[in-house]
Amino acid sequence: MPKVTYHRSAGDPDVLDVPAGTNLMRAAVTGGVRGTVGECGGQAMCATCYVYVREPYLGRLPEIGEDEEELLECTAAPRDDRRSRLGCRLTLGDGLEEIEVDLPASQV
Ligand code: FES
Repeated sequence: MPKVTYHRSAGDPDVLDVPAGTNLMRAAVTGGVRGTVGECGGQAMCATCYVYVREPYLGRLPEIGEDEEELLECTAAPRDDRRSRLGCRLTLGDGLEEIEVDLPASQV
């Protein structure tokens, strides 16, 4: 089962095993991870699922779509051109069996 680790600036990370086909936003919301809101339900309209992907996993990510690109320009936390992604656009499984992300200090 795919594994996702959510790091925050302080405290222990949340580590979840989730079914393949689950995106990072949905995994965080259903898993009770603090720091992810997912206000629009994964429609790429709110950017409250914002994450910074850790270095070793960057090469395994799908390309950024046009809708994601637009939202990444208006996130509450600063953008990192290499690591910033929307959690609702990253689906576990099918080549992405494990990932670690840092959560921003604020999503809104
Ligand atoms: S949940 Fe709204 S953009 Fe990802």
